Amino acid sequence: MAAQKSLENIRNLLKKHRQSHLLAFWGQLNQAQKQNLLSQIEELDFSQIDNWVANLVKKTPAAAGQIDLIPAPFYSAHPTGQVQKRKYSEAVELGKKLISAGKVAALVVAGGQGTRLGFEGPKGDLSISPVKNKTLFRLFAEYIAAASRKYQTVLPWYIMASPLNYSQTIEAFRVNDYYALDQNNVFIFEQGTLPNFSFDGRILLADKATIACSPDGHGGSFRALRRSGALKDMKKRGIEFISYFQVDNPLVNICDPLFIGLHALDKAEMSSKVLIKAYPKEKLGNFCLVDGKVKVIEYSDMPDELAERRKHDGSLVFEMGSIAIHIINRSLVERLNEKGCPLPLHRAVKQIPHIDDSGNLVEPAEPNGIKLESFVFDAVPLASKSVILETLREQEFAPIKNAASVDSPETARQLMVGRAADWLESAGVTIPRKPDGSVDCLIEIAPSFALDKDDIKTKLHQIPQIKSGDQVYLE
Ligand code: UD1
Repeated sequence: MAAQKSLENIRNLLKKHRQSHLLAFWGQLNQAQKQNLLSQIEELDFSQIDNWVANLVKKTPAAAGQIDLIPAPFYSAHPTGQVQKRKYSEAVELGKKLISAGKVAALVVAGGQGTRLGFEGPKGDLSISPVKNKTLFRLFAEYIAAASRKYQTVLPWYIMASPLNYSQTIEAFRVNDYYALDQNNVFIFEQGTLPNFSFDGRILLADKATIACSPDGHGGSFRALRRSGALKDMKKRGIEFISYFQVDNPLVNICDPLFIGLHALDKAEMSSKVLIKAYPKEKLGNFCLVDGKVKVIEYSDMPDELAERRKHDGSLVFEMGSIAIHIINRSLVERLNEKGCPLPLHRAVKQIPHIDDSGNLVEPAEPNGIKLESFVFDAVPLASKSVILETLREQEFAPIKNAASVDSPETARQLMVGRAADWLESAGVTIPRKPDGSVDCLIEIAPSFALDKDDIKTKLHQIPQIKSGDQVYLE
């Protein structure tokens, strides 16, 4: 009787929001399927659905060009003047102290589908390092182990997966024995999903008993950190700062004392790393000031005219691109959760397989609907203060987005070799180079050998002579 009553309520709710078709095949479902469908419907946020349909699904929101944008100020990669030099040194010392005191945790978002890369399985499981072919997850794990040793601390690692790759991610860690990390310090959790819509605002069904859903974007990490218990775990450990990064960048400097220190010195709540864009419409978020608040305008939302606008010296007005590396205060994540994680949703027009009104599977050749997701960088304007630090592309950014050509595994490997060569050369080691200047050997520096340029100087006696065509692995 109670079950029937709740089914009646759900029917009414669906009718009110013009989604009654979700129960169109109810009579054909077995008990387990009915239960599954009901629990998915109960997860839907009916307080928002009409708003999403009206403002995101049926129409495209206003482009950023209609708002007044100016470029956001940032700390440059190299300090200028005595005062700034002193501040950077102070920041490095403070950053080291905070890391050593166990106040910092690592968080990687690894829930994306990696559609452009076309790699089956979690992107973190992609083999990438130039000599040993280590996977991204292994590289990050080795970095975390080395940083924990260097700072004599425990650096817990939180990994966000999505329903699309959660079990594969767990499996990758399990079969690799957690990449030699203590399993107690690794926390893998799952992000939420949002329903997919047809252009006319109907939620799509993947099959007769399943709503078509997709991961709710990396902005979903705020909610997922709380839901999964990761946030509580951080609190218990005394973590104050979350070092956030994306799974697709093997050069990320997870534990950067300067970045953490500047963030803490300036009492910021969410800070970001940026670099000079290679060209106006490079696919990076743009750091702008809107009404005095720092805001990231995604490359796809940045009007061409603004992206291409230049200063007198020829450089871009909006020259700083986001590399999606942030320091986020745990207290900010807690506060946003208390407020229901009020991040805006963004729409993406996609091809979404679904069933039609007769229950037949449709695999569209053209885009047929809308997926919604939230972006972590939309929390930047919600922070009381935000620091932006410039970093150097060749030191910290090797994005892996596509299977070939630009931002691919091949370019990432070249960048990894390039950085290793640069670190060795700046310590006085001779590196063979081709006439065009490119490195003429393969070099891989394991995190256990060096986490930065300075670490190399203490290991010079372990470095062999390097000749053209050599494959050198330093660990
Ligand atoms: C992203 C940023 C862009 C930044 C660039 C730097 C967005 C929308 N844009 O672009 O501002 O300049 O990286 O490389 O993110 N992810 C999840 N769950 C999701 C969706 C994504 O964990 O639901 C993770 C992915 O696994 C990946 C990261 O988020 O690690 C980035 O996602 P992706 O969609 O590849 O963003 P990009 O368009 O490449």
